[in-house]
Amino acid sequence: MPLRSLSVVMVMPYCKPVRRPGPQPCAPSLSASAGPGVHWPVTALNIPDLIRKKRDGESHSRADLEQLVLGYTRGEVPDYQMSAWLMAVYLRGMAEQETADLTVVMAESGDLMNLAGLERTVDKHSTGGVGDKTSLILTPMLAALGLTVAKMSGRGLAHTGGTIDKLESIPGWTSELSEEQFLRQAQEIGLALVGQSKDLAPADGKLYALRDVTATVDCLPLIASSIMSKKLASGAHTVVLDVKVGAGAFMRTLEAGQGLARAMVDIGTRAGRQVRAVLTDMDTPLGHMAGNSLEVQEALDTLRGQGPHDLTELCVALAVEALVAHGETQAGAEARARQTLQDGSALERFRAFVAAQGGNPAYVDDPTRFDVAPGRADVTAPTAGFVEKVDALAVGRAVLALGGGRERKGEAIDHGVGVELLKKPGEAVAAGEAVLRIYHREGRGLDTAQTLLDAGLSISAAAPTPEPMILGRVN
Ligand code: URA
Repeated sequence: MPLRSLSVVMVMPYCKPVRRPGPQPCAPSLSASAGPGVHWPVTALNIPDLIRKKRDGESHSRADLEQLVLGYTRGEVPDYQMSAWLMAVYLRGMAEQETADLTVVMAESGDLMNLAGLERTVDKHSTGGVGDKTSLILTPMLAALGLTVAKMSGRGLAHTGGTIDKLESIPGWTSELSEEQFLRQAQEIGLALVGQSKDLAPADGKLYALRDVTATVDCLPLIASSIMSKKLASGAHTVVLDVKVGAGAFMRTLEAGQGLARAMVDIGTRAGRQVRAVLTDMDTPLGHMAGNSLEVQEALDTLRGQGPHDLTELCVALAVEALVAHGETQAGAEARARQTLQDGSALERFRAFVAAQGGNPAYVDDPTRFDVAPGRADVTAPTAGFVEKVDALAVGRAVLALGGGRERKGEAIDHGVGVELLKKPGEAVAAGEAVLRIYHREGRGLDTAQTLLDAGLSISAAAPTPEPMILGRVN
């Protein structure tokens, strides 16, 4: 996506730092200090000194982080030094201001999108889940509500899906727009969506690859700065975050999810943005469908006001956060958000958006046209009772095994395969009744998918206590 020419320096004013006890390590504990090391004057710092500083639990200045991160991005700091520094961060953590500084340095390591010509800009980010087609519904809702979404989205990796892959289920739809097209479309329709540019926050791309091979991915300040660097560089005034918690999510516990949400809201606020986060359940896939074409069909049902309850409620909740960030009241915002799904205005925006990006709008009008893989196999309840659990990770891995996702970047995917949840947790089932339906292409990956789904399904004798979809909010 040719966004190089969008290099415009963004002004990122800082709010006053929030006090907190000190850096939190990512590792559970660090038994002993690694030793005092030699202290150099700040001006004479070199890379080993910066590694030592973090190793000894000190905080970095913005200048330190620029030296490290920009040096690494330019290829001047080698992988072995950056790996040592990442591990020191993993063990010692980072203070809030330090995390915010790291994020801004990463954001400013490449192109910055200038959305200054657009009004009421909103971006949305989900930390990734299974069956999460929220962006397909929320973004046209926001456009119909008078906000502007000029957004970069990702592709799926491992068991989580990506918005670009889902939209590519619509024949002709492209994520390749020129800068001029992108901004004009956002102005005219209120919605334009492109793929992630490698020139946007390139420091994050390099650092993420290194984290992946140095066991430093699951580190709160590194995750928060990685996500938020791309959001800051993307230029929107308001950012709504959907932080997923549960079996199919990056964050397995509510506590971990809250920590990530607070860190990201703090970073965005210090950078002068409006950031609001919603914590949502990802123990069970969202809605009934997982798999690209199947998810677009379900998104279209939802845009027609006929979507599953959990998906509809999540989209309304996220739209409310965006509107409240723009000064509306909670009650008024909720009524307006629901209205867009009832009166067809969100669907109309989605249709216009699809057509503007080369997609065939006949697929929006008639979702039965989508290529859905013809093979069917059901996973049935071994006993009568209630569906207790449909493990989101198992469903995500099953879609991957069927060919609907990718293990490595760049792999081709089959948009037509997937899994349907015929029953959701809490629903009664008879012995032998179908609970999950697999959509496969000539049996590819079917055995693995069946094994995963059998293991991921639990039936209980008593009805399980219903779990809320929205687990909390941070703003
Ligand atoms: N997503 C990101 O973009 N970065 C991380 O570190 C984790 C999830």
